[in-house]
Amino acid sequence: MNRHTEFSGIKPKDHFWVEIYHLMNSIVQPRPIAWISSISSDGVINLAPFSYFNICSMNPPIISNSIFFNRDGSEKDTLKNIKATQKYVVGTVSFKAAKQANISSAPFDSGVNEFEEAKVHSVERGPGEPPFIAESPVQLVCELNQTLALGQGAGVGTLVLGNVKEIYLSAELKDCEWQKGISPELMNNVGRMGADFYAKTTDVFQLARATVNE
Ligand SMILES: Cc1cc2nc3c(=O)[nH]c(=O)nc-3n(C[C@H](O)[C@H](O)[C@H](O)COP(=O)(O)O)c2cc1C
Repeated sequence: MNRHTEFSGIKPKDHFWVEIYHLMNSIVQPRPIAWISSISSDGVINLAPFSYFNICSMNPPIISNSIFFNRDGSEKDTLKNIKATQKYVVGTVSFKAAKQANISSAPFDSGVNEFEEAKVHSVERGPGEPPFIAESPVQLVCELNQTLALGQGAGVGTLVLGNVKEIYLSAELKDCEWQKGISPELMNNVGRMGADFYAKTTDVFQLARATVNE
């Protein structure tokens, strides 16, 4: 067994936050990616990926995203839109859409629709509704539960909690026994690692949940 007995400490307060950002991103990994489709109050559609993403309650289902301020201190369009309309759609990012998800993360102006820039197909859901992402096999239709601003300025996150009101599965997935979960091969999600690394989810293994009798 590989045991570690000597450790050296790093205090975040002694370093520029970007160094800690790179360090933390390489420690807290792999992270799932929420591909968020949102719409502004004047109807501009927006798409961007977010990997500070998780489930934080299940009955009813609530998910979390942390959306940072831009480096110039301004709010990201996704956060502005969610605050303004209270609604958004989260798509999953599968391996074949990873490059498009990355393109949609570029700092386009607020008036730009990233579906078009990243050549992602949208599935319209009616006026004022953020569209589905055709490249994502699963869509979570979310309603804002609350935002928690952790401060203001570059490197600071705002925690966004969303109630998952509906879960849509693509035709490819709808015949699977989703009540028992969807197989990783069908999802084919990618995970976000540190720096520019991503992980595939094709090399998986199983461990049955432990019991006290083992
Ligand atoms: C894979 C990936 C994951 C990302 N995760 C986050 C995240 O969790 N939080 C965040 O604030 N920005 C994250 N970003 C950066 C945003 O996608 C980027 O700032 C984007 O331009 C925001 O778009 P918007 O202004 O249209 O909302 C991520 C980028 C990539 C490529």
